[in-house]
Amino acid sequence: MPKICLCLTGSTIAQDLAALEKYRDKVDMVELRADFLDPGELFHVRAFPEKARIPSILTVRRRSDGGMFDMGEGVRLVIFARGLAFADSNRGKNFSHVDIEYDFHIPSIQEAARTFGTKIIRSKHCMHGMPEDIDRVWRDLSARPYEIPKLAVAAEGLRDVDSVFRLFEGGDGGSERVVVSMGAYGFCTRVLAARLGSMLVYASASGSGLEPEAPGQLEPSKLLETFRAKEYGPDWSLYGILGGPTVIHSLSPTIHNAGFSELGLRSLYLPFPADDVEPFLALADRLGVKGFSITVPFKERILPYLTRRSAEVEAIGACNTAIREGSGWAGYNTDAYGFSADVRRFLGVESLYGLRTTIVGAGGAAKAVAFALRSLGAKACVINRNMSKAKHLAESYGFEWSGMTERAADLMERYNDLIVQTTSVGLEGGQAGDPIEWYEFSGREALYETIYSPTETDVMRRAKAAGCRVSNGLGMLQAQAEAQFSLFSGMDYPQSLRRA
Ligand code: ATR
Repeated sequence: MPKICLCLTGSTIAQDLAALEKYRDKVDMVELRADFLDPGELFHVRAFPEKARIPSILTVRRRSDGGMFDMGEGVRLVIFARGLAFADSNRGKNFSHVDIEYDFHIPSIQEAARTFGTKIIRSKHCMHGMPEDIDRVWRDLSARPYEIPKLAVAAEGLRDVDSVFRLFEGGDGGSERVVVSMGAYGFCTRVLAARLGSMLVYASASGSGLEPEAPGQLEPSKLLETFRAKEYGPDWSLYGILGGPTVIHSLSPTIHNAGFSELGLRSLYLPFPADDVEPFLALADRLGVKGFSITVPFKERILPYLTRRSAEVEAIGACNTAIREGSGWAGYNTDAYGFSADVRRFLGVESLYGLRTTIVGAGGAAKAVAFALRSLGAKACVINRNMSKAKHLAESYGFEWSGMTERAADLMERYNDLIVQTTSVGLEGGQAGDPIEWYEFSGREALYETIYSPTETDVMRRAKAAGCRVSNGLGMLQAQAEAQFSLFSGMDYPQSLRRA
């Protein structure tokens, strides 16, 4: 079982110690990132392990390896030397590990580390994806006696992540090593560290105010509670959500993992930020993923890869759920159901018969919304930046349409009982703004925003200020996720976990 190692990236040792106190009961060790410390603090590095009272790694990462240190090799050497300069009798006061880059060869430092019981982690940071000569690099790193090899690959896409699993899954479980893929694409290598035989999972102390050390790095509580890092085993069933980089902020992992945990299922659900569908599917095959959700921008791009499509996927033209079926994937759409259930709750009605509505956007989410609105008896228009997509979607339902032009404002004047925002504008971590900033709310419109993170978007704030009733997409998310959960597990989502 990998150890959870908290990365301490404060500018003072006092800040680092305060962050450690916040997470002490959740982590097994810490990494003091001396490259983040103010220069004056570097004199006190040596006292750190004694104050921290937990196994500690000393790291001075250079900029070229993705760190912050730029004071030159001479100073770096001095920091290592000071950090390790304890006599044998003071073993408890020493760093348990020192992380030294592959090209750092100062025999006296290495000798001192060995003499004083400090283990050397010999690291290579590949900042531009998996190197072509990885076999040679890894052979070099692992050929040194008494040293623990560490490979950190900054993934430029899911192919790099797939290579990490290809090279390290299973393997010689006997010897110690550290393997991680950095960046958002590499997220799953952290949660699935056990499968890579990595002795460590790095966690961030961002919740205590320290900068996250790397994107994709999680707080210890999320690792332990949402992603069950200390329970997960290679025999568990794996699920996930395919999306763009913003999928890191998705609430879906929280919802599904809580359900799995409550029902005692050995199943785990992860976000997979992806550069494209194909590398994701290759990785999903390698990892044995049994089912996945699909979000922006892949709800339509997934269609050619489905070996079977439900009637709703065929009718809607978008898919938000894929379930493994033999060697292929069966596609379902639970978005239309989720929207339909939640918009009726929001408006307090069973049917939307005769209601005049505007759909903002014409992507995969808009398609599910259009399908649901038609099924509920509403009339609608579609407005979208890309006019031909608006036209195509609207015409398949006999709705009116417009690009984001003056005509859109005129059209909306006639279709404004309910406005449904389905574009990705305003998503946490994505493009900020209000996709209909030119539309003036009168106060009588109801606005349904399909985004739920952040909980309030710019357009919601504006509509609210004008006196409109507004809802975000949390209820839709929950309802579509519950339907998905049943497809994944064959069981009902636990009622006790339902949000109000
Ligand atoms: P999803 O499948 O989740 O709906 P999508 O198919 O990529 O994702 O659709 C995203 C929607 O957001 C589209 O309607 C897109 O408009 P275009 O069709 O014109 O691309 C809309 N969108 C994304 N960025 C936008 C922006 N900056 N301004 C306006 N609309 C935007």
